[in-house]
Amino acid sequence: MTNEELILEAKKAREHAYTPYSHFQVGAALVTKSGKIYHGCNIENAAYTPTNCAERTAFFRAVYEGEREFEKIAVVGGPEGSEADELCAPCGVCRQVMMEFCDPETFQIILADGKGKCLERTLKEMLPFGFGPENLGNN
Ligand code: THU
Repeated sequence: MTNEELILEAKKAREHAYTPYSHFQVGAALVTKSGKIYHGCNIENAAYTPTNCAERTAFFRAVYEGEREFEKIAVVGGPEGSEADELCAPCGVCRQVMMEFCDPETFQIILADGKGKCLERTLKEMLPFGFGPENLGNN
């Protein structure tokens, strides 16, 4: 799965976003180490805080299906009704969820807009000094 292919999947996922409050639509496409893709979109809520980001939707769908090993994720987000014109970086909560399931040294986060710009970083670059399962020292 090339980054370009994965970005297209994230764009498709973005079409499913439920965003009656922010009107900011995000799509994510997550690839497992075995090559399966899980899509996610942001799902908002009238009470605001229960909103789930696209990245977490993708992770939770995958984890529910039994997946535990992940290679990379592509994220595309921007105001509804148009192509994304800026890069959309995962929020802190989503980075922390990635920390639970991914090797920060190797897991790649690919951000793309709708005009061909993209940026790729490891989870460690996006979340330096992250706290993960290893830090608890009891597993
Ligand atoms: N959002 C995501 O889904 N992923 C991100 O990477 C950043 C923000 C969502 C949450 C909310 O529905 C909307 O974008 C505006 O914050």
